[in-house]
Amino acid sequence: MAEATDRPVALITGSSRGIGRACALRLARDGHRVVLSARQDGPELQDAAAAVAELAGAPPLCLPMDVADATQVEAAIKQLFATHRRLDVLVANAGVMDQAPLGLMPADRVERLLSVNTAGALHCLQLGSRLMARRPQGSVVLVSSIVGLQGAAGAVAYAAAKSALVGMTRAAAQELGPRGIRVNAVAPGLVDTAMVADLPVTQRDALIARTALGRIATPDDVAAVVGFLAGPDSAFVTGQVIGVDGGLRL
Ligand SMILES: NC(=O)c1ccc[n+]([C@@H]2O[C@H](COP(=O)([O-])OP(=O)(O)OC[C@H]3O[C@@H](n4cnc5c(N)ncnc54)[C@H](OP(=O)(O)O)[C@@H]3O)[C@@H](O)[C@H]2O)c1
Repeated sequence: MAEATDRPVALITGSSRGIGRACALRLARDGHRVVLSARQDGPELQDAAAAVAELAGAPPLCLPMDVADATQVEAAIKQLFATHRRLDVLVANAGVMDQAPLGLMPADRVERLLSVNTAGALHCLQLGSRLMARRPQGSVVLVSSIVGLQGAAGAVAYAAAKSALVGMTRAAAQELGPRGIRVNAVAPGLVDTAMVADLPVTQRDALIARTALGRIATPDDVAAVVGFLAGPDSAFVTGQVIGVDGGLRL
C-alpha cells in the first residue's frame, strides 16, 4: 500500500473520471506519486486507481471527500500527510456544471455550483498549500473554464463560480510565492467528458465550428498542460491562467 516517499506527491481532486483521471495518469507517468479523490470510493475511482497502479507499480492512495465540505477536505489532507508526509502538487479539478436561464436557476443549484466549484477549490487550496509550505515548495493548478473567462448565456452561475478561480489564482500566487508555492490555472474549452455528454449534438457541433482547431478537446489535451504547470519546466510561471480551448470563441 501507499507509504512515505521521496517522489513528489500529487493530489488530484475529481480524479475518478474525465480531466482529473487524465491528469492523474499524466502525473503518474511523469514520476509523481498520485493521490486520487472523488466523493465516493466507488467503481469509477477504483478503475482509475487500477490504471494508476499499472503505471506506478503500486496502488495509489484514494481519498473520498466532498470538496464542498471543508471538514472532509481537512480529514483527507490529514490522511494524505499521515501516509506520504508531503504534498508537492495539488490539482483542484473537482467540479460540477449546471445550466439554466438566469431567472430559472433555483437558489439551491446556485449554491451547489458555488460551493463545489469555488469554495471547494478554495478549501483544497487552503489546506493543501498549508501542507506544501512545510517544505516549502509546490505547485497548485486550479481548473477553471473558458466560461469563466468569456461568459456564456445560460451559464451565469457556472461562469461566476469559475471566474472566481481566476482571482483566486492571481491572489494566491502573490501570497504563496514567497513560500515557494506556484499557483496557476487552466481554462479548458469543450472537453470530451461525462460532464458534457448530454450536450445536444447541434450545440456541440456549433461549439466545434467556433473552435479554431476544429475539434473538441480530449482530457489528455488538458492533462498535458497541467503536467507542464505541475513540473519543473514551469518553475518561473505563477499567477497565470492558460486557455486549453483550441481557439474557441463562445
Ligand atoms: N468537460 C468540459 O468541457 C470542461 C470544460 C471546462 C472546464 N471543465 C472543468 O473541468 C473539471 C473536470 O470536469 P470533467 O469534464 O472531467 O467532469 P466529470 O467527468 O464530470 O468529472 C468530475 C469529477 O469531479 C468529481 N466531483 C464532482 N463533484 C465533486 C465534489 N463535490 N467533491 C469531490 N469531487 C467531486 C467527480 O466524481 P464524483 O461525482 O464521483 O464525486 C469526478 O471525478 C471541472 O472542474 C469542470 O468544471 C470541464
